[in-house]
Amino acid sequence: MRTIGIVGCGYWGPNLVRNFSSLSGCEVKIICDSDPHRLKSMASLYPNIEQTTDYTELIEDKSIDAIAIATPVRFHFEMGMQSLLAGKHTFIEKPMVRNVREGLILINTAQSRNLTLMVGHTFIYSPAVEKIKQIIESKEIGNIQYIAARRLNLGLFQKDINVAWDLAPHDLSIINYLLSECPISVNCQGKAHIVKDIEDITNIVLNYPNGRFATIQSSWLDPNKVRDMTIVGSKKMLVYNDLEPMEKIKIYDKRVEIPPHYNTFAEFHYSYHYGDMYAPYIKQYEPLKLECQHFLECIETGEEPESSGIEALKVVQILEAASQSIKDNGARVILKSLEHFASRVN
Ligand SMILES: NC(=O)c1ccc[n+]([C@@H]2O[C@H](COP(=O)([O-])OP(=O)(O)OC[C@H]3O[C@@H](n4cnc5c(N)ncnc54)[C@H](O)[C@@H]3O)[C@@H](O)[C@H]2O)c1
Repeated sequence: MRTIGIVGCGYWGPNLVRNFSSLSGCEVKIICDSDPHRLKSMASLYPNIEQTTDYTELIEDKSIDAIAIATPVRFHFEMGMQSLLAGKHTFIEKPMVRNVREGLILINTAQSRNLTLMVGHTFIYSPAVEKIKQIIESKEIGNIQYIAARRLNLGLFQKDINVAWDLAPHDLSIINYLLSECPISVNCQGKAHIVKDIEDITNIVLNYPNGRFATIQSSWLDPNKVRDMTIVGSKKMLVYNDLEPMEKIKIYDKRVEIPPHYNTFAEFHYSYHYGDMYAPYIKQYEPLKLECQHFLECIETGEEPESSGIEALKVVQILEAASQSIKDNGARVILKSLEHFASRVN
């Protein structure tokens, strides 16, 4: 039986409390929030879970094996370090931290103490994303040519991070998971319309070594809620709409072909292929439950989580580069290999 403490009971934290509480082999002993009103609203739902407004109570409690952190990102590094230094396995919500340097320190601290460090990149535990991964690996849609992701709505404005840091971690973790390769450079443009210097719309472009690219549009300032990703392959095209209750993935047998031989310009014309569309069956389960279960399993086995500190660091690196690019009016920012940074932190 693992004993867990959870800090942050705002919008997302209660979902962690619900899921960890539902798992056998795990007891949520104590929850923490600096806002007593948040704790009061949790008390009626979880009368048997202890409460505190002071995070150090979790740190000093020797009976707690693991801590899950669901506070705003500016607290993640300090709280994560306190947790790891107290010898506790640590789960941190996305985005892991505010910069690569902080991420590397957390990873090194967890590794040197043989502790599990996992980050809440929930979408890579979703059945739809798992299905897309299988489809890509089966080569049904051919070689991936580009990916275009959109995550838009009239969103909750954050005070400390822009919309890319809030929403794009989902798309970045999905794209990194699906492509199993990292981009070599990033461009990003963004605009702050409502809160000074906090961009509420951003467009990220990821460039990959073999010439393919991905775009991620994130917005808190859109009348429609959109959560979609188009994956264009050389044989077929796939559209993932996370708002669809059942048919989240649609595969279109459509492509454009260039004729292999032509002698005159008159003979040259693209050939458009139109075929069927189908929506594959996807099993239904709550990704967050699987994510919480995975954290517990990794603690037991010592295996590296799918959304490990290193995977989360790749997301943070891209976000940091995107912020730099916004400052430089969309200029290309080259991504250095993470080993380059690691040698500086050790
Ligand atoms: N995995 C996902 O799908 C997903 C979805 C939404 C949010 N998130 C992440 O969850 C985290 C929290 O986001 P949110 O939307 O719930 O934020 P929120 O502002 O609604 O809640 C944060 C809570 O933390 C508490 N808090 C702040 N500082 C504290 C401190 N020092 N000690 C104790 N409590 C403190 C606040 O009082 C608040 O109740 C963020 O990292 C966010 O990106 C993840």
